[in-house]
Amino acid sequence: MLTLGIETSCDETAVALVDDGRLIGEKLATQVDVHTLFGGVVPEIASREHLRVLPRLFKELMAETGISPNDIDNIAVARGPGLLGSLLVGVSFAKGLCLSTNASLIGVNHLWAHLLAPGLLTELEFPALGLLVSGGHTHTYRITSPFQFKLLGRTLDDAAGEAFDKVAKVLNFPYPGGQFIDMLGQDSEPDTKLFPRGYVDNPSMDFSFSGMKTAVSTYILAHPELIFDTMASLEDINALAGEKRAAVSKVCASFNWSVADTLRIKVERALEKAGNVKSLIVAGGVAANSMVRETMADVASAKGLKMTLPDLALCTDNGAMIAYAGGLLAEAGYSHTLDLEAIPRGQVIPLDWVVDYNPEKRQ
Ligand code: KG4
Ligand code: ZN
Repeated sequence: MLTLGIETSCDETAVALVDDGRLIGEKLATQVDVHTLFGGVVPEIASREHLRVLPRLFKELMAETGISPNDIDNIAVARGPGLLGSLLVGVSFAKGLCLSTNASLIGVNHLWAHLLAPGLLTELEFPALGLLVSGGHTHTYRITSPFQFKLLGRTLDDAAGEAFDKVAKVLNFPYPGGQFIDMLGQDSEPDTKLFPRGYVDNPSMDFSFSGMKTAVSTYILAHPELIFDTMASLEDINALAGEKRAAVSKVCASFNWSVADTLRIKVERALEKAGNVKSLIVAGGVAANSMVRETMADVASAKGLKMTLPDLALCTDNGAMIAYAGGLLAEAGYSHTLDLEAIPRGQVIPLDWVVDYNPEKRQ
């Protein structure tokens, strides 16, 4: 069964084709260069860029894979959470394609798709404990099947990726700066006393990263010699040397540690609550962080769980994860009518699938 995935929830425009769980082609255009100029994603610009780029990516994908739109069985689209204008571009494009091809429409929860993405390369074992750590979300779930996610913990303020990006902004690193903090942090041992962990002195499974973000930012502002005078390029960051490199790397390593150890504590707590699970799945952009990966692998090994981590390219937003998650839903008989709505960040995504809906009977 051939499933097209469309991703336009934030600042990546992506399409991919998955055939019975196997990726057969993908195209991705990042808008990061445009948004870097503003230090974060500008929603209006993001929607316009999706509108400009999506039809071209789709045509290129068809040409490169030699597949005709009429061969596609399912059109899966990220329907939320995300930026409403951006989501609407993908959802409208998906509906148009469904109308012209008779394919089934499947709205996919972008967060669930992140957690299911590693299934493209390895078998997912359920029940699983899922940790989704991205630029907009920090969630733990008990996952019973690809369609049954129970939310256990969530962030009360900033997401882990947001904290990385805001600290990076204070250092004058380009947006999104998490990867640079990770990279420099690998040069140094962390000082585990330098920064607090977030919201750990309580029994809650929820997260809070705003206090940690403020502590790290305040420390950097009190040490202005750590900050680049103008926005650094990758070359500037690579060229850091001597005492300044050592000092910035120490801050980055210590911040990486505070995030990773906070995630460890909350995941261990969620594992106790979740009861019997077979695997730990960690996904989202921050799952690319080397210290987070290492810490989570240690947690899984200590608890005797299978560790499931996506490849680095599958951690950040992509079309393959939407196509894969949509394909799983389609196999189980789920789809959506053309009334499918885009759901912005902060709102609950309804479980409004239709079972065994026949697109050929569409009005
Ligand atoms: O999942 P994602 O691509 O987009 C959202 O759905 O939010 O995640 C993007 C986030 C950004 O905050 C980015 O700085 C962070 O993931 N990120 C990292 C790393 N790579 C990406 N954070 C820390 N270390 C990394 N290596
Ligand atoms: Zn994402």
